[in-house]
Amino acid sequence: MKKHIVVIAGDGIGQEVTAVGKQVLEAIANKYKHEFTFDTALIGHEAIEATGNPIPDETITKSKASDAILFGAVGHPKYDNDPSAKVRPEQGLLGIRKALGLYANLRPIKLFDELLSASSIKPEILKGADILFFRELTGDVYFGERGRKDEGNTAYDTMIYSRYEVARIVTKAFDAAMTRRKKLCSVDKANVLESSRLWREVVQEMAPRYPEVEVEHQFVDAAAMLLIKDPKRFDVVVTGNLFGDILTDEASQIAGSMGMLASASVGDTTGLYEPIHGSAHDITGKGVANPLASVLSVALMLDISFGMKTEAEAVVHAVDAVLKAGFRTRDIADSTTPADKLLGTKAMGDQILYYLAA
Ligand code: NAD
Ligand code: IPM
Ligand code: MN
Repeated sequence: MKKHIVVIAGDGIGQEVTAVGKQVLEAIANKYKHEFTFDTALIGHEAIEATGNPIPDETITKSKASDAILFGAVGHPKYDNDPSAKVRPEQGLLGIRKALGLYANLRPIKLFDELLSASSIKPEILKGADILFFRELTGDVYFGERGRKDEGNTAYDTMIYSRYEVARIVTKAFDAAMTRRKKLCSVDKANVLESSRLWREVVQEMAPRYPEVEVEHQFVDAAAMLLIKDPKRFDVVVTGNLFGDILTDEASQIAGSMGMLASASVGDTTGLYEPIHGSAHDITGKGVANPLASVLSVALMLDISFGMKTEAEAVVHAVDAVLKAGFRTRDIADSTTPADKLLGTKAMGDQILYYLAA
């Protein structure tokens, strides 16, 4: 099969982990006789430096014309502590999500058994946890009206959802639940927020169309607690943009590390595949970032955008095999990891390629 992929590595460790993700795509093309062509595009801080714009038109044009996008991360320390900056790297990521209509962000929380001891949660609580988050990605307080008034002394961001926006993400979540354990948890803050009351109303209206799916509603504060207390109780979780952002960073600890969590951002057009983590300034340039979130994002791309199930499984199996062989990056290592199994980004990538070629 012929596929054209745009690689948008972005900032910080985005560059380091995406290089590995691209190598995995090349290895898959080679092994399964596909023809993958690649192009690159700018985003975030590197795009601001080059063009003054965190999301140049060319990046959008190239992305729309591609079959899939492999994305790294955006963010730079220069902006994190400068609230006055009007142009920011993160606008690049928000901009491409909006421009491509990527309203559904699938974040699977898949715990590899070998990493049971990498988490700070007790193994008996964790074992068997398998959650699929649907985070709404183009609405909510991220995209509502914002600004300052009162001579700059009052600031506001508007949390806003339309019935249509809720219904389309909830439909995707119900459909996924039907293919899994048929449990759907909708997370909101309907005891306080009007946008959450609309969210809950829509879920309640849709539930009778899926009589086999057991639906529950949780308030976001309780959901945050339950994720740690009993992660196995969750199957599919659907929630808004902000709650989904926060809960999935929390849930990454179920999988052992931020460096393990892949995601698929899909909607009207080309899908974008991105680790959930950021540019990680604290480890940028050190060569220690875990590339497996990018590798697993490639698996999601192969499966969802290209329908290549066997190839996607081969990538997941390679990750599993490398972990079974005891190889670890720093973030998923523990006191029992021998020094010769502690790998940097590139060496971990090489192990994945070795198992893929086998
Ligand atoms: P972060 O996700 O970059 O890092 C959080 C922590 O997790 C850090 O200690 C980091 O070292 C660790 N970590 C993250 N990915 C890792 C990996 N692959 N391997 C090993 N360790 C990893 O979040 P942050 O520190 O809050 O933000 C840093 C910058 O990234 C900010 O500018 C922020 O806006 C941006 N950000 C971007 C994205 C994105 O592009 N999708 C996501 C989150 C944050
Ligand atoms: C993520 C990030 C982004 C978000 C930021 C960088 C805009 O945290 O992809 O999870 O909040 O969506
Ligand atoms: Mn986030």
